[in-house]
Parts: sequence; C-alpha cells; structure tokens
Amino acid sequence: MTQSAQHNSKILVTTAGAVGSETVRLLNEQAVPVRVLVRDPTKVKALSDAGAEVAVGDLDVPESIDEAMEGIGAVVLVSPAVVAQELNVVRSAAHAGVEHIVKASSKASPDSPIARRRGQIEIEVGLAASGVPHTILRSNAYMQNFLALAPAIANTGAFGSATGLGQVGLVDARDVAAVAVEIVRSPGAHAGKTYLLTGPELLSYYDVAALLASQLGRAVTYHELTLAENREAMIHAGVPEQIADMNAQAFSLIADGDAAWLSDDIESILGRSSRSFAQFAADYRSAFSYAAN
Ligand SMILES: NC(=O)c1ccc[n+]([C@@H]2O[C@H](COP(=O)([O-])OP(=O)(O)OC[C@H]3O[C@@H](n4cnc5c(N)ncnc54)[C@H](OP(=O)(O)O)[C@@H]3O)[C@@H](O)[C@H]2O)c1
Repeated sequence: MTQSAQHNSKILVTTAGAVGSETVRLLNEQAVPVRVLVRDPTKVKALSDAGAEVAVGDLDVPESIDEAMEGIGAVVLVSPAVVAQELNVVRSAAHAGVEHIVKASSKASPDSPIARRRGQIEIEVGLAASGVPHTILRSNAYMQNFLALAPAIANTGAFGSATGLGQVGLVDARDVAAVAVEIVRSPGAHAGKTYLLTGPELLSYYDVAALLASQLGRAVTYHELTLAENREAMIHAGVPEQIADMNAQAFSLIADGDAAWLSDDIESILGRSSRSFAQFAADYRSAFSYAAN
C-alpha cells in the first residue's frame, strides 16, 4: 500500500441512479462497507439483497441526510445536481467530519447557457468552501443517456436529436463509478484534483447509429432535429419541461463542438482503457432489442 491509505470506513453514496447504483455495486463487491441514500428502497432491492445498506431519505430533507451520514468516512456525491440538495449533503458531511467527498460533475461553468452547469459550479464552490477534502469528476456525456432512446430504437429503428454532426467523447457511467470507487477507497493522492472523464473515441450520433446497427444486426437511423423539435420530443416522452430545456440546449451545443473532447484520466486512474460504445451496445443489447409497447 502507498501513502494514500485505503479507506475502510463506511462510504455513503447519495443516490442510486446510473453512476450511484454501479458505485454501490462495486463497493459491495469489493467488501467495502457502503450505504446508499434513496427515496424508494424497493428500487434498490438488488443492491440490498447483495448486502448494501440502504438509508431511506430525501436530499431535500437535511435531517434524513444527517441520519444517513452517521458513521460515514467518505461520500460519493452524485445526484441530479440540484444546488440546494447537494449543498445539504456537503454541509452534513462537513459537520460529521467526513474525510473525503468525490463529486460527480459535468462541464460546469459560471457563464454556461445551461442552468444545470451553472449550478454545478455553485456546488463546487460550496464544496471548496466547506474545507472537506474532495475530488471532482467532470464527465463528458454518459452512454447510458441512450437508454432513454432505447424503446424508440427498439420499436422504430430510428432516433433523433439536435446534436447535428457534432462529436461526443461519450463515457460509460460504469467507468465513472469505477473511478469514484478507486478514489473514495484511496483518496489521499486525489484530494483537490479535478479529473476529466471520457470514453476512448469521439463519435457523432451518426456513428452511434452505425455502432448500434452493427450490434443489433439491423438498420438504425439517426435523424437530425432542431432544438425545438428535440425539446418537444423529450416532453412528449415524459421528461419534465425544465429538464427538457436543459437537455435540448446541451444537445444543440454538441452540434457546435461543445462535447468534442477526450481525456485519458480514466486509463491513468484505473490502469485500463475506458469502455467503448461498441462494448456498451453489446452489454445493453437487450434494452435496444426489447419491443416495448
Ligand atoms: N447524464 C449525463 O450525460 C451526465 C454527463 C456528465 C455529468 N453528469 C452528472 O451526473 C450526475 C447525475 O448522475 P446519474 O446520471 O447517475 O443520475 P441519474 O441516473 O439521473 O439518477 C439520479 C438519481 O437521483 C435520485 N434522486 C432524485 N431526486 C432525489 C432526492 N430529492 N433525494 C434522493 N434521491 C433523489 C433518483 O432517484 P428516484 O428513483 O427516487 O427518482 C435517481 O436514482 C449529475 O451531477 C450530472 O450533471 C451527467
């Protein structure tokens, strides 16, 4: 073991979404004590059956966060990144004397046209002010976002987006989780660092369609949408208006080259390559094949 000692105290993971659930699964698999805060414990039965501890709470309710924080040594802060909610976690962790926070973030910037990215900066500033040692994971877009399009792809063989011809350094959320686990287990060398997490290649949505077609063995077509059309399509699919606004903005920024960046931080931290989109498509093949009604 190096000077960055391994963490054996209990780790709190703040939600069980794409990154959180895989983070909990990996920690549990590595026999690291882990607690996950969720609103609905029935959604994480597989994790609790596997041995993870579940704390029922809500990031809008500080008392429930304080309860979940009891006996915790380090936190993986991942959530929809609502500023007040994540700052609730930061305050609770600072008060409890938590040793390290790993925060999932995105291309945060104080002057971003996207409210969520301005919010991420507010959270990062609050985290820095808290004095709790921390590490920021600034990820490119997650491959798992395509799972929202999977029913359409399964049923119609087509999907649309306002990303135009823009390329993205898509990253598998499972790799973001693996990095969070590596850091939270041995945080010393990572304190104060910001890592850029991407997959291994830049892909346009036309490339994504071709990779899905090759994996599924049938035609998959990508069609370009305007920002307004993309926003409407998401609202029609049940995405709340405010989120649809931010997502549509992010997609149209991709068309302008906003997500055309790569980094080898995953490889440096994990000592292996980041997962490719072809690997993601193979692993999630059934989601894209299932004909939902
Ligand atoms: N998606 C991307 O492409 C992307 C790219 C870069 C960075 N990021 C960052 O990644 C983070 C999101 O991570 P993710 O994709 O793993 O999240 P996710 O899959 O969207 O899951 C969010 C989770 O938060 C839970 N949740 C929502 N409100 C809650 C509340 N009030 N109290 C407790 N739990 C609550 C939800 O649980 P319920 O089941 O109860 O609703 C859900 O499990 C954000 O910081 C985002 O900016 C995302």
